[in-house]
Amino acid sequence: MDKGTIGIDPHVLSLSHGVIEMEQLSPDYGKSRRRLRVLKLRGVKFREGYHDYTIETGGLRVFPRLVAAEHYSTLAREPVPSGIKELDDLFGGGLDRGTTTLILGTAGTGKSTLALQYARQMASKGDRGILFAFDETRSIMLARAKALGLDLEKHIESGAVTVQQVDPAEISPGEFAARIREAVKGGCKLVVIDTLNGYLNAMPGEKYLINQLHELVGYLNYKGVVTILILAQHGLVAAAESPVDLSYLSDTVVSLRFFEAAGEVKQSIAMIKKRSGPHEKTIREFKLEPGQGIRVGQPLKEFQGVLTGVPVFRGRSGKTMSASDGKK
Ligand SMILES: Nc1ncnc2c1ncn2[C@@H]1O[C@H](COP(=O)(O)OP(=O)(O)OP(=O)(O)O)[C@@H](O)[C@H]1O
Ligand SMILES: [Mg+2]
Repeated sequence: MDKGTIGIDPHVLSLSHGVIEMEQLSPDYGKSRRRLRVLKLRGVKFREGYHDYTIETGGLRVFPRLVAAEHYSTLAREPVPSGIKELDDLFGGGLDRGTTTLILGTAGTGKSTLALQYARQMASKGDRGILFAFDETRSIMLARAKALGLDLEKHIESGAVTVQQVDPAEISPGEFAARIREAVKGGCKLVVIDTLNGYLNAMPGEKYLINQLHELVGYLNYKGVVTILILAQHGLVAAAESPVDLSYLSDTVVSLRFFEAAGEVKQSIAMIKKRSGPHEKTIREFKLEPGQGIRVGQPLKEFQGVLTGVPVFRGRSGKTMSASDGKK
């Protein structure tokens, strides 16, 4: 007899009012993944597709697949300033609520610190934020923030900023999405995923991870959250390459790069696109300074080769910031 696509006698399927399929998958590395799917449930409009679940003390925890369209809303897209005037000028006022920003840059360019600056600034205005750290440990991140003078401790203590370290091998995409939804329900207005490389590597074999990310980002946008996705590019200073192209998922793209000027390695920042409004098309110098945090300079016009990924500064060295230049 034909056992059908899932290997069950079709007679048994037609006799039952409901059929739920439960699966356990073992990735090459990390914890087993469990997912379930409702094949039929008579008289009920159920959510189709696979849903991740875990077995915990007390029972099953199911993470229903997120459908962004169910959270549709039309919130006003108000810009959120970063607290650094030059950066806000570059960003056209700031990052807008209900939009997703992709921060691109090679290792050590300051991506995480830029996200932390936003967390601090928003917290100081009463907006809660959560940062999911996939790559570095929470303690290194917080120690760096402290050394740079980003006063995060009081916001962490008050619960206005949460840094959650995610163990990539232990969590399914469904559970991760559930954590984000929980944070948003708890009032978070800023969500940072640091990094997407970690997120993508964390769940290898998840063919539909990008689709899940798409739903997640859509959900966060409908909820009016400022979403920051960080993507580390390969190659330290050579033409940087992204492991995946996620620029279409993002409303705003910010690029951090190293450049050379007068025998020194410096960092630059540029906003490549912003769907929600105008922004500066210039490149500015970006600097992390002990005790002073992020400093952003005036637009630097004398660059060449920005689009090739290796900007070269052709101007006079006096035009870039020196360590003792002004304040933040
Ligand atoms: N106390 C400090 N004072 C000045 N600069 C610092 C200090 N601590 C770290 N930095 C600079 O900050 C950089 C790291 O910043 P950050 O971690 O935000 O970059 P990132 O782009 O997120 O890096 P990664 O790709 O490794 O995650 C270091 O490369 C260093 O140049
Ligand atoms: Mg980082």
